[in-house]
Amino acid sequence: VALGVTALAVRVVGDSGLPWDLLAVSLLLLPLGAAAGASVRARRHSGRLLDAGAEALALSAVLVLGLGVLTLVLGRLPDRREQDLVVPAAAGLAVGALAHPWLRRRISGAVARRTAPGVRTPAAVLDAFGERRARAVPLEELLLQLAEALRADLALTGVDVWTAGGGSLQRLLSVPHRTCRVTTLDPDQVRVLRRAGVAGEAWLRMWLPALLEGREDVQVRLAPVGYGGDLLGLLLVTRRRDGERFGERDERALGEVARRLALTLHNRSLDAALQATLDDLRTTNDELRASRSRLVAAADAERRRIERDIHDGAQQHLVALAVNLGLSRQLLREDPDAAVELLDEVAVDLKETIAQVRDLAHGVYPPLLREAGLSEALRAAAARSPLAVTVDVGELRRYGADLEAAVYFCCLEALQNAAKHAPDAAVVLTAREEPGSLRVMVTDDGPGFDVAAVRDGQGLQNMTDRVGAVGGVLTLSAAPGAGTRVEAVLPLASEAATTPAGAGA
Ligand SMILES: Nc1ncnc2c1ncn2[C@@H]1O[C@H](COP(=O)(O)OP(=O)(O)OP(=O)(O)O)[C@@H](O)[C@H]1O
Ligand SMILES: [Mg+2]
Repeated sequence: VALGVTALAVRVVGDSGLPWDLLAVSLLLLPLGAAAGASVRARRHSGRLLDAGAEALALSAVLVLGLGVLTLVLGRLPDRREQDLVVPAAAGLAVGALAHPWLRRRISGAVARRTAPGVRTPAAVLDAFGERRARAVPLEELLLQLAEALRADLALTGVDVWTAGGGSLQRLLSVPHRTCRVTTLDPDQVRVLRRAGVAGEAWLRMWLPALLEGREDVQVRLAPVGYGGDLLGLLLVTRRRDGERFGERDERALGEVARRLALTLHNRSLDAALQATLDDLRTTNDELRASRSRLVAAADAERRRIERDIHDGAQQHLVALAVNLGLSRQLLREDPDAAVELLDEVAVDLKETIAQVRDLAHGVYPPLLREAGLSEALRAAAARSPLAVTVDVGELRRYGADLEAAVYFCCLEALQNAAKHAPDAAVVLTAREEPGSLRVMVTDDGPGFDVAAVRDGQGLQNMTDRVGAVGGVLTLSAAPGAGTRVEAVLPLASEAATTPAGAGA
């Protein structure tokens, strides 16, 4: 129709021979178009053809209008000489009409950049998104820059950006601000959006009509922001209804912006995940460092205690024994009876010293634990307690020395705490191996205490550190009037690789 109308107008005004041929071609195109309409494959492209047709019709209208104005200005149809100029004039008009939108975009873009020099092109903003130093800039700030750039570059009136995840939509940006009641996407919408390209009003009316609410007086385009088959967000832009129609170039540009925005959002989420992991690692590292220094301090304190015990206890006894032995030697000749009496005393002292040295050794690393393992050592520790302790540990196998020591000293401290702070309580000590872990519990029905209020006291901290050092977790459950339960769960995953405490003994 466009071709036919143009040909007819040129023919009437310009009396040129060529337009008859064009008219014939245009008439031939009509049945061809009708025939193509019967084919499903060809119909798939009809939308694009109709767009092209509409543009051709608009161009033809410009030409007809131009030739009409020419005739009006002359006040008559062109004469023979002037008719030669009609075709070149029509060609000039066509070139002008075709170049107009492109020129307008260029010039208004340049003017916008002049008047708002801070605003960059969308591509420049997106380039900046990808740079390492831009990672510290909040996403909202970058999106705002992108919105400004898009507005200037594509002559838009509004830009909205959402992130999508788990079926919910979260709006990151709305320029200019407007309320929006869309906050969720159903699975069908997500599925369709994942596959959709840049979509217009008709598509939105079908799939996301709520996004069109309040946007009846503008042109709308929606670009889904997807990465690797996942829908990460939505980019919606609007332009005045009486402005230039959104064309293929605009949609291509929007699609490209959405694609690069997807990459940025994806990288940002990776960055955030990495940051969270790093924060976790940092916290764990700090905790480990604090725990290690506490263990070192505890080891130093323990060493000083042993030194003191040896100095004040065993050493004094041994010195006394040496003196008494010397005395006995002297007495043997002078007063044998007194000597025998003194030697009996020495024997008693010697036994006491042996007992003291054994107690000392118990505090360092109990020989029973090394030789017989946890079950025996825990039973012996319970037997030494002044309280009634029920031991239910079965026959535990051997574990690494670190793990056995951690369990043993934890139970020892828990038993000591019960004896100190819950003197009339009944205590139950249990230990069970579960798949992949060893669970140990010391429970008493004493007065309990407020866990949150505990300030001083080294025992609980030592227990936590010891269990933590072998990768386990210590849980303290207590409440005033409700007894106390200390529970340690220790992982056994790497147990096979560690040497049992008794292996070398
Ligand atoms: N079984 C228990 N029953 C009641 N209160 C307890 C029990 N175990 C611990 N507590 C409370 O928790 C506090 C801290 O215990 P923790 O073992 O850390 O210190 P402590 O026993 O007072 O001193 P130490 O440093 O010699 O162990 C205790 O002072 C006590 O108030
Ligand atoms: Mg204690």
